[in-house]
Formats: sequence, structure tokens, C-alpha cells
Amino acid sequence: MGAYDDIFRASVEDPERFWLDAAAALDWHTAPTTALDSSNPPFYRWFPDGELNVAYNALDRHVDAGRGDQAALIYDSPVTQSQRSYTYAELRDEVARFAGVLAGLGVGVGDRVVIYMPMVPEAAVAMLACARIGAVHSVVFGGFAPKELAVRIDDATPKVVVSASCGIEGKRVIEYKPLLDKAIELAAHKPDRQVILQRPQAAAAMGDADVDWVEAMAGATPADPVPVKATDPLYILYTSGTTGKPKGVVRDGGGYAVALAWSMPNVYDVGAGETIFTASDVGWVVGHSYIVYAPLLAGATTILYEGKPVGTPDAGQFWRVVADHGVKSLFTAPTAFRAIKKEDPKAEHLRDHDVSSLKYLFLAGERLDPETYHWASDTLGIPVIDHWWQTETGWPIVANPAGIELLPIKPGSPTRPLPGWDVQVLDIAGKPVEAGTDGAIVVKLPMPPGALPTLWNDDERFVRSYMAAFDGYYLTGDGGNIDEDGYVYVMGRTDDVINVAGHRLSTGSMEEVLASHPDVAECAVIGVADSMKGQIPRGFVVLKAGVDGAAEGYEDTLRAELVQLVRDQIGAVASLKDVAVVAALPKTRSGKILRKTMRGIADGNDEPVPSTIESAEVLDALRPILRKD
Ligand code: COA
Ligand code: AMP
Repeated sequence: MGAYDDIFRASVEDPERFWLDAAAALDWHTAPTTALDSSNPPFYRWFPDGELNVAYNALDRHVDAGRGDQAALIYDSPVTQSQRSYTYAELRDEVARFAGVLAGLGVGVGDRVVIYMPMVPEAAVAMLACARIGAVHSVVFGGFAPKELAVRIDDATPKVVVSASCGIEGKRVIEYKPLLDKAIELAAHKPDRQVILQRPQAAAAMGDADVDWVEAMAGATPADPVPVKATDPLYILYTSGTTGKPKGVVRDGGGYAVALAWSMPNVYDVGAGETIFTASDVGWVVGHSYIVYAPLLAGATTILYEGKPVGTPDAGQFWRVVADHGVKSLFTAPTAFRAIKKEDPKAEHLRDHDVSSLKYLFLAGERLDPETYHWASDTLGIPVIDHWWQTETGWPIVANPAGIELLPIKPGSPTRPLPGWDVQVLDIAGKPVEAGTDGAIVVKLPMPPGALPTLWNDDERFVRSYMAAFDGYYLTGDGGNIDEDGYVYVMGRTDDVINVAGHRLSTGSMEEVLASHPDVAECAVIGVADSMKGQIPRGFVVLKAGVDGAAEGYEDTLRAELVQLVRDQIGAVASLKDVAVVAALPKTRSGKILRKTMRGIADGNDEPVPSTIESAEVLDALRPILRKD
């Protein structure tokens, strides 16, 4: 038995002892005496009698311990050709001042603040400032359109929205303020104020309710950290579910901070004074956890990178960042490496940079295909660690625990469950399957600290979505298997969620948009395999009776309209570019569209035809379109 086995066993034999011990890594206003409140399953609460402030733990604690002069956050922006480094003392002061701005605008404990920002340090400052005064942030990814932002504003009902005049996408400047204004116009809930960071690349027109970031900071009184209950929400992060309405994943502060602080040395092998570069976006869970909170809780240095893996300006930027800042662990999505590989297959840019500080590459957010694994591993000559997790879980479920012991890597598997995660595979009837047999991947309750306690204002949906399928288990929504050595293989979602370039999207929400077109009678959107983005959406629409689909140029016009509609309603990030007009959609006799069968055929698999099919002819007619023959 190795170190990993011992630690894992300790975590499942006595989880409460294990996590109370882990909690000692933080400074508590009131230290927890009870690890877990399990009185109301499936609503478990970690550290119910603990009180702390997460931002204090991320910043002040390190300054007080003598790390004030160490770099906490380095903003590296090839798109603006600038870099800025904040020491722990400087970041604490910025955060305290912005917390003062928010407090001055009436934001207090439990109030929500929506943050809609590009990858600028002020995004992290705003998040930590909320945490400092006990407010609940909800960061919305900049690639979402006004309507998606409006849906989140209506659900979170923020007092204040924090945004910027623009983001920079590759070589394009995207003005955020008009998108925000439109979202507020669409939303039923109106925030009191918007704080806007004016960036030199585009000036935002300011309205009566808008406050300028710089001016507000100049006049603000820094605010002290407010101790809050460990079970109080730190943030809400919306993620795609099966319907158009996103799920508001709630994160409690205490459990999350304990789990993240544990994960930094044990999973990512990054400790105080070391540097981690997580190339993601603060709008995703990876950004929340491993750009902002975990590195700072660990006293490490985090890189906040505003750019792409390629094209800003070249495929050597990740290597440059590693060399410039002495990065030890690099974390991104496989798609970023596929993009680099496509642009620079021989990794010639690597020769221009000294990446000897780099000890690990961590990849997550989508399946790591073995080809990309081998390319990254051969190119870098360091362990390439696939790990599996979700917005809901907040930190990895399955990983190779590099900081404890590097287990043998099996390409295609993110390795084994981390402490606290009792991962199992069940069949439809809820029975455990044999090793190596596919089924639904579930986690036996209770889940460890950090995992979602519920959905914002929707306990009922929390139970229905995750807890109702198998009593006593959390349904991950992923299918796969566990082999005889305990290695988990994640084969993909079993619901209507797809992963496009590591971005989680709902085909159901795209279908809602397509169906809203006046000419569309019914439609289906499926996620098909893509060599660059992992998956991309493809849409299939059936026209309403009476619409002359044969009219010259009609189909092209309709296609363009539908693609634009999805961009306008969901955002460019949806990446729906391929829509086909078809005569009919294949269905079961009970009327369910056979999306899985369609996906299998589109992916070139030898897909069995379900016995429940209503009309095999409809499917046969669709085959060449699906296969793009
Ligand atoms: N604000 C506004 N628009 C955005 C955006 C943002 N923050 N992020 C993406 N978009 C837009 C893009 O500009 C693109 O628009 P276009 O269709 O007009 O070109 C569209 O959304 C799709 O973006 P994306 O899927 O990212 O494709 P891309 O071709 O721009 O880039 C990669 C491809 C692989 C380089 C990019 O996805 C990437 O760096 N991925 C890394 C993985 C990652 O960050 N994952 C997050 C979870 S770990
Ligand atoms: P998100 O909530 O955006 O982090 O997306 C979570 C989903 O991404 C999971 O349910 C999986 O489908 C997928 N995913 C994340 N990491 C991996 C991985 N390492 N291997 C396979 N799928 C992954």
C-alpha cells in the first residue's frame, strides 16, 4: 500500500476526522468543533459551527505571516502587451479598498454582486472583495450574450454589478458595457449600481447608475474582513443544465476553502512561494478555484493570463509565461493543447523559452484524448495529469495526487478518486456494475467539503437533478467505468450537456433558441466529436408546413439566421455554426428524439438502431447528412 492508499482510506474510514484535520490549515474566527451536519440528507453541511473569512485566509493571513512582499497575483496580458504584479500586501489593500467601495454602495453580508468581466486583475479583486464583506459573488463568463446575463441577474438579484468597458478576444476588442446595458434592460431585476472599469481600448458611456472603478476606489475607505459562517454562501456559479435555465451552483465558504487548501499541496504539488498558471477564465469553475481562491489560500503565486494559447500572438505564449514567471504547475483544458499542437506540431516555440521550472501539466474540463496526452507528454517530458471534476464539485473528484505520490498514468483515465470521493458506477437499476463495465458515475453521499450544498433558491431542483436518480448518491451526469485497479474512465455526459473547447454548454438551451425561429417546427442539437474543440454542436431543423424550403437561397438564409440567433441569445461561445434543414427527425414510438443515435452516427460509430424507433426510414434518410457523406 502506498501513501495515496493510506490517505484515501483514512478519508473514507473517518471523513470527519480527516476534514477537521485539514481545516486546521486555515485561520478560523471560530474553529469548527463539528465536521459535518448530516441531520437533513441530502443537504449536508460542512463545519456547521465554524466561522471564518475566506478573503482574510487568502490574503491578510499571509501578510501577517511575513509574506506581504511575495507576489500573490501576476497579470500577464499579451493582448495588451502588459504585465502587472501584486504582492500579497498590495492585493490585500486593493481588495480591502474595493470591499469599501461595495460596502459604500450598500452591499453587505449575504447580498449578491454579479461580476461580468474579462481576464483583468480587477475581476479577482472584485471576487475577493465580496468575500471580504460576506457578500456573494456570481461571476458570469464574458462570452455569454446579454440574455444569458439577464437570466443570471434575475436569478441572483444582485445589488451591484461589476463590469468593464471591454474585453479583448484575440485581436478583437469586445465592448462589454453595451452588452451589460442590454442585459439590465432585459432583466426584470434592476441592480442599484454598476461599477465599471474603464479600459483604454474602449471607453464605456456611463449612465446615472454607473460608477467609475477608479473614481470609486480613490474615494473609498478600506473595509475589514467580516467573519461569516462556514456554511454561508461564498458564491453562486451558474452552469449549463439540460434546460435553458442554468443551474445556480452554490458554494459555501468554509468547506470550499478547506478542500482547496488541501488540494494545492496534495494534488497540484504547489505550496507557499511557488507559482501556478491556470490558463482558463474566471467565469468558469476552474478559474474560481485555481486562478483565484486555491493558489491564494496556499500562499502561492497565481498567474492571471489574458490571452489565448495561440494567436496572441503565437503558440509559444504558454511557454513564455512559464519561463517569465517560473511556473511550477500549468493547468488548462486539453483543447488548448490541441490548438498549440495544430499551430506548432513540432513545438518549435518551446526552444525559445526555458521551461525548466515546469514540473507538471494538469488538464481538465473535457476528456483528454490519448493523442493529445502523448503529444503533451512527449513534448514537455513531465507528468501530464488528467483530472476530472465539475462546476458542482468545486475541486477534482478523480486525479493523480501528484503531491502525495504520482500513481502510474494510464492514458485515457484521470486516475483514481481523491480522498473524500467515494466514486461508484451503477447500472440503470442502481446496482454496482463489474469492474470495466460502463454505467452512471455516481458519488456516495456525503460528498467531501467543497461540493455544492444546493442550488441557489432551488432545493427542489438540486434534489431532482442530482439526488433523485439513485438514493444516497450524487449523480454526476457522466458515464464511464472503473477498472480492476480502481482507475476511473470518464466517457462523456449522459445528459444534454456538451463540452465545447472546455466550455460547458446545454444543447437543450440551443434547441430552445432554434425552436423560437418562426419557420422551425422542431429541432435537435447534438454534440459531435471535433478534433480541435473536443465537441461542437450541430443543429437539425424541420420546417413548419407551408414554409417553402426549396425556394432559391432559402436554406442559406435560414442557416445564417439560426446561427446568428444562437450567438445573440446565448453568445459566441456556443460555437453553433452547423445547422441542417431536414425532412424529419428520428424518434421513438413515444416521440422522443433519438439524439444519442444521431450523435453516434455523426461520430462515425456503428450505432445500433433502437428497437423502439418509430420509423427506420427517417433515420436512414438522415444518415448521409449526419455522416456528411
Ligand atoms: N468574451 C467574449 N467572447 C468570447 C470569450 C469572452 N471571454 N471567450 C470566447 N469568446 C468567443 C470567441 O471569440 C469566439 O468567437 P467567434 O466565434 O466570433 O470567433 C467564440 O466565443 C468561441 O470561442 P472559443 O470556443 O474559445 O474558440 P476560439 O476559436 O476563440 O478559441 C481555443 C479556441 C482552443 C484557443 C480556446 O477555446 C481556448 O483557449 N481554450 C482553452 C480552454 C479553456 O479556457 N477552457 C475553460 C475551462 S478550463
Ligand atoms: P464543468 O462543470 O464546466 O467543469 O464541466 C464538467 C464536465 O466536463 C464533466 O461533467 C465532464 O463531462 C467534463 N470533464 C471535465 N473534466 C474531465 C476529464 N478530465 N475527463 C473527461 N471529462 C471531463
